[in-house]
Formats: sequence, C-alpha cells, structure tokens
Amino acid sequence: MRTAVITGGAGGIGAATAERLAAKGFAVLIVDRDLAAAEAVAQRLGHPASACAADVSSEDDVKGYVATAIERYGRIDAFFNNAGIEGAIASVEDYPTDTFDQVLAVNLRGAFLGLKHVVPVMRTQGEGAILNTASQAGVRGVPGLSAYVASKHAVVGLSQGIALEVAAAGIRVNCLCPGPTNTRMMDDISDAVRAAGGDPASFVDRMPVGRFGEPGEIADVAAWALSEAPAFMTGAVLTVDGAMTTP
Ligand SMILES: NC(=O)c1ccc[n+]([C@@H]2O[C@H](COP(=O)([O-])OP(=O)(O)OC[C@H]3O[C@@H](n4cnc5c(N)ncnc54)[C@H](O)[C@@H]3O)[C@@H](O)[C@H]2O)c1
Repeated sequence: MRTAVITGGAGGIGAATAERLAAKGFAVLIVDRDLAAAEAVAQRLGHPASACAADVSSEDDVKGYVATAIERYGRIDAFFNNAGIEGAIASVEDYPTDTFDQVLAVNLRGAFLGLKHVVPVMRTQGEGAILNTASQAGVRGVPGLSAYVASKHAVVGLSQGIALEVAAAGIRVNCLCPGPTNTRMMDDISDAVRAAGGDPASFVDRMPVGRFGEPGEIADVAAWALSEAPAFMTGAVLTVDGAMTTP
C-alpha cells in the first residue's frame, strides 16, 4: 500500500490533503505537534490512517516520525513537508527576535530536518515524491511578516537545491506556494491585523479573484503533486494563489 506522511497534518491544508490522499488509497500518517487534533483527523479517515506527535523543529522528533512511518507502514511514497507557523505581525524594528528564531526553527529547520531524514528512505526505495509548503510569501515580499517571508523564501531555495540533489535517485521534490487560504493561520493573521488597527479586508481587496482560497483547492494540487504528477515534474514551484503573484 502506498504511504504518505504529512506534517502539520492536523491543520487546514494538511488535513484536506490527507483526505484526498486517503481517497486515492494511501495509508496516511498525520504528524502534528497537536496530537489530539492529529488523532481526530486520523480517526475521521479511518484505518489505516494513524497519528504521531512531533515538533518538526526537533531532530529527535523528526527521526521519531520517520521511524514510526516505517514501523507502521514499511515505506514512505509521499512526504508532504507542510507544518508551519506565521509568527508575529510587526515591522522589522519591532519584530521580537525570539519569534524570528521560532518561525525559522519550525518553517525552515523543520522542513530541512524532514528532508534530511525522509530522503534516505526514498533513496533506498528508489522512488518517492516530496512536496514542501512555502507560500506566496516565498516568492515576493509581504510587509510585517519578516520572519515568515524569510523562512518561506528559504523553503523555495531548499526545495530547488534538493530537487537537483535527488533527481537522479528517482525522487521528485516540488514546492507549493499557496495564496491566503481560509485556515486557522489566515484567521489568526486577520485577527492580529484587526487588533493592530488595520483592516483585514484589505487582503481580500488585493486578491485578483476577490476571495481567499479554500483548503480543498490547495489540497487538490498537493495530493496530485504527491501522487499522479508526472515523473518529469520535479524542481517546480507551484503557485496556487488566485493570480495573487502573477506579474
Ligand atoms: N493558510 C494560508 O493562508 C497559507 C498560505 C500560504 C502558505 N501556508 C502554509 O501552509 C502550511 C499549512 O498551514 P495551514 O494554513 O494549514 O495552517 P494551520 O495552522 O491550520 O496548520 C498548521 C499545522 O501545523 C502544525 N504545527 C505548527 N508548528 C508545528 C511544529 N513545530 N511541529 C509540528 N506541527 C506543527 C499546527 O499544529 C497545525 O496543525 C504552513 O506551512 C503555512 O505556512 C498557509
């Protein structure tokens, strides 16, 4: 049976992708720092999906979720390297340094550690598909989100570098850049903008399609990139953002 591992699998985009991969016949390991939420997603999917607690910024935890996937399922065909946090919303002079470190630890170190420990499994298999979640904020600047923007630009670069490293080993590595999408993350960003006296509706005004994305719209692309996408598609940066970043 094909197996998928999804970090941040209890969140909006991760859980929607888990549903789609399960529907395609994958056994899905839902990895999240929120175990109860991960278990709820696995329960919804039913057997053989299961949950695993991990903080993706901890190398021991990353080794742990990779070992759990192998123990339970024997292989990893698809790896959705997706856990992320937005950090603070503040101009650079007010941005808390510890929050900067935390955002880089989860979004960049977490993505790196996932690649570091999943790639050897896929090399042994001689195949595998990886999708790293960056953001529209990984391909352009966004004011007030310096750590997030820096971390997501780095995830794009990490994806491209590692796609080149592993292409000859039969491993595809692509990068997903969603636009603003209706999940917990966008709700919290909107609340923070409102609390700072701003108008979150201004985000929607900047969307050419006049609305945010839905998690299922991002998940449709993610699940495809992790399963049916052609072997020739690797090193791609896939924007799914309602034309937000279209030049
Ligand atoms: N929602 C958006 O507008 C949007 C846009 C572009 C990119 N993204 C990216 O998509 C990904 C998924 O975000 P989402 O929108 O589903 O948000 P979400 O908050 O619903 O999901 C994120 C999940 O990651 C988990 N997580 C956070 N830190 C973790 C850690 N250290 N270890 C393990 N799990 C951790 C959370 O518990 C949560 O379940 C993130 O990388 C995010 O940056 C989101």
